Amino acid sequence: MNNHLKIYRPMPIDEEIKFSKKKFIVSKTDINGTITFANKNFCDVSGYSEEELIGAPHNILRHPDMPRAIFFLVWSSLLKGERVSGVVKNLAKSGKYYWVIADFDVKKDAEGNIKSLTAFRRAAPQHVIDVMEELYESMLNIERRHGMEGSLSYLEAYLEEKGMNYEEFLDDLVTPKGLLAKLISSFKNMF
Ligand SMILES: Cc1cc2nc3c(=O)[nH]c(=O)nc-3n(C[C@H](O)[C@H](O)[C@H](O)COP(=O)(O)O)c2cc1C
Repeated sequence: MNNHLKIYRPMPIDEEIKFSKKKFIVSKTDINGTITFANKNFCDVSGYSEEELIGAPHNILRHPDMPRAIFFLVWSSLLKGERVSGVVKNLAKSGKYYWVIADFDVKKDAEGNIKSLTAFRRAAPQHVIDVMEELYESMLNIERRHGMEGSLSYLEAYLEEKGMNYEEFLDDLVTPKGLLAKLISSFKNMF
């Protein structure tokens, strides 16, 4: 039985969910992006139960304010077997939104085949949200008129102006410092 067909997308409302920067949200998916694991913080913040999340496509959290180009970049890296980061505005079950910094990773079996994909997320600080909100709004507007290729070109030009590639830009913006960095790296080792 596939009870996930019953999940419909919530109507977005312009209200933000803020959560502790020490609350890490973790999920795993199979190669198709179907959720196979969700930690308690994921359930608490998104408002979905574990039963609703497991077996559901990860795009149930997709917020309409997110440009498609960002997920295209994430999936392109993961399918090449490369880890990648992103800043994502997510849609909770209530229709509210929450911003995360997400580190995506690839787990492989002994033969080197992709076994699972993981995402490790933390709350995005306001200065990160401010930068990404503006960038995504421009990308989304271009995407509506010129498709994803248009928004990818826009992103490329935006990064070129900063003299950075996507990874350097994110690193510069989101890399945690000090104690938080230590907390994050020890927590990540648990998954
Ligand atoms: C491990 C993993 C975690 C993901 N987490 C999210 C997420 O938190 N929010 C989200 O919108 N998409 C997430 N995605 C991307 C979705 O699979 C999907 O590509 C995205 O929501 C865009 O939806 P669409 O491909 O149907 O347009 C994740 C993908 C993977 C592999």
